Amino acid sequence: MIQTVCVCGAGTMGSGIAQTSAAAGFYTILFELNESVLDKAKTTIEKKLQTLVEKNKISETDKAATLNNLHFTNDLYDCLANVVIEAIVEDAPKKIALINQLAEINHSETVFATNTSSISVTQIATAVKNPERVVGMHFFNPATLMKLVEVVATDFTNPQTLQLVIDFSKQMNKTPVLCKDAPGFIVNRVARPFYIESLRMLEENSASIFTIDSIMEASGFRMGPFKLMDLIGNDINYAVSCSVYQQLHNPERLKPSFIQKEKVANGELGKKTKRGYYQYD
Ligand SMILES: NC(=O)c1ccc[n+]([C@@H]2O[C@H](COP(=O)([O-])OP(=O)(O)OC[C@H]3O[C@@H](n4cnc5c(N)ncnc54)[C@H](O)[C@@H]3O)[C@@H](O)[C@H]2O)c1
Repeated sequence: MIQTVCVCGAGTMGSGIAQTSAAAGFYTILFELNESVLDKAKTTIEKKLQTLVEKNKISETDKAATLNNLHFTNDLYDCLANVVIEAIVEDAPKKIALINQLAEINHSETVFATNTSSISVTQIATAVKNPERVVGMHFFNPATLMKLVEVVATDFTNPQTLQLVIDFSKQMNKTPVLCKDAPGFIVNRVARPFYIESLRMLEENSASIFTIDSIMEASGFRMGPFKLMDLIGNDINYAVSCSVYQQLHNPERLKPSFIQKEKVANGELGKKTKRGYYQYD
């Protein structure tokens, strides 16, 4: 039975996943190395809960219970849990190093779920002791609102681990969908050309950012590609583009754009840095 959940990384995804887990009644540790990011996550969660109270979506008691379930830390040794969900940067060696550090201090049955968007879960699992308890749990942005969770099993994942994350997703009021450990799983594979073709049109000067976004929204997409990339984070989206491209053996149609690379080099990461394809001051 899950009592304690530890979410690693308090950025765009980690803070939303931790809020969702705490609201579902789990004691939730949110671990982040960068203190200012950790402080920001705390303030953001408090604000979001207050907004829900004001909109009569939750009561003051619910808000207090959620906050009471949350423990914010930058101390790795606080990260003792039944389930660890890592939501740190999209970088395989960093994810593997963190999971291995946490495996040393946790019980051998602690489940390690990775929120990676594109890295092979098998690659992570095989680098970790007891790979049978490693699984993909791919939430969507914003994690508090989006229902879908892609659950990614590897050849090593045992049935108990799989059942545990499926049940856990449902307890968080999410819809788990089982996916194969294929590059980009399902959503990020299918969505790749949405971003890459839009960037190509920009490179070719065929249409402006605003025109592409407006037209795609008018055609029924909830957000245009540039608004969506700014929401995701251009560093994350570029890393996912590169990862899917490499894993599929560099097909020309999925070649990452130099525009994205430049955005990352300039620190224009989107909403999280207040600058991306748009400005958010
Ligand atoms: N942004 C999205 O829309 C989205 C959606 C689904 C999945 N994901 C995946 O979730 C993960 C996180 O993405 P994000 O957008 O939240 O990134 P982010 O850059 O907003 O946050 C990542 C955080 O991890 C922290 N961090 C880095 N190394 C750490 C470590 N060793 N220990 C603890 N914290 C560490 C960083 O300081 C940063 O605050 C990535 O794997 C990404 O692919 C992202």
